[in-house]
Amino acid sequence: MKTPQGLQPLIDDGIIDAVLRPLKSGKEASVYVVRAGDEVRCAKVYKDMAQRSFQARVQYQEGRKARGSREQRAMGKATKFGRREQEAAWKTTEVDALYALADAGVRVPQPYGFFHGVLVMDLVTDAEGFSAPRLGEVELEPAQARDYHAMLVRDVVRMLLLGMIHGDLSEYNVLVAPDGPVLIDFPQVVSAAGNNAARTMLLRDVHNIRDSLARFAPELADTHYGEEMWALFEAGELRADSPLTGQFVFDTHAADTRAVLWSIEDARQEAIIRQQGREEADAAD
Ligand SMILES: Nc1ncnc2c1ncn2[C@@H]1O[C@H](COP(=O)(O)OP(=O)(O)OP(=O)(O)O)[C@@H](O)[C@H]1O
Ligand SMILES: [Mg+2]
Repeated sequence: MKTPQGLQPLIDDGIIDAVLRPLKSGKEASVYVVRAGDEVRCAKVYKDMAQRSFQARVQYQEGRKARGSREQRAMGKATKFGRREQEAAWKTTEVDALYALADAGVRVPQPYGFFHGVLVMDLVTDAEGFSAPRLGEVELEPAQARDYHAMLVRDVVRMLLLGMIHGDLSEYNVLVAPDGPVLIDFPQVVSAAGNNAARTMLLRDVHNIRDSLARFAPELADTHYGEEMWALFEAGELRADSPLTGQFVFDTHAADTRAVLWSIEDARQEAIIRQQGREEADAAD
């Protein structure tokens, strides 16, 4: 095929040898199947900022550190430099996240670097070697849905332990490889510690996965893994192998009311005893 503009510099530099076919062109990026030596890989070419709505991303930037204080200040401004830095941060966030996640054993495509604004990574394939389907495109047996759910929950925990929340996790950003689900699409990854919306985003991510897989394993619908892992994380008690049950006791007012009623009852009994004591003392006089 004719080499797309964004990939020509990678061919010129010998990073890839050929572009085999387009895989998908979305809102934010165009993804191609490429060849590098004997390896078939995947190249994600990000679209220009002008074609994307950046304001909508502002909440994602919160808590994310730019490289230096000048960059940090610039990112907060609508200057040309600020916008350039924002765009650069947006792109490098994905490749930085992929390296950190792959190192931590999270199931993501192995990255092979970021060149001229293009991310090169493993092509996730199905059993026949074709590009893998998305989670939303496959039919699963209940047992397989439960397994995939457990694997995805485990990976979300591992991410959280690295201080990251996917932020856009859904059946569209999970590919199904023969050995299980693989997470993709990380430019919007959220800092778990520095972002006020972190909990909300984590819960949305986990609920999306739960609801997709509950179509095949309905009992998953009643689980609350997101709430459970966040409570442990906040308490500093979350570990990669923390046993999670999916059962979460919500802080209900009913329990509080009962405790209040008990202490009122205790106080009443004490008052009766004191009163009886006084009456007995009076009778003795
Ligand atoms: N490493 C990969 N291996 C196989 N397929 C991939 C890989 N990365 C991306 N794809 C395919 O390309 C699609 C788009 O990739 P990605 O989600 O990263 O980009 P995007 O621009 O955010 O797209 P969208 O707006 O559709 O979410 C994916 O849904 C998937 O089908
Ligand atoms: Mg996507």
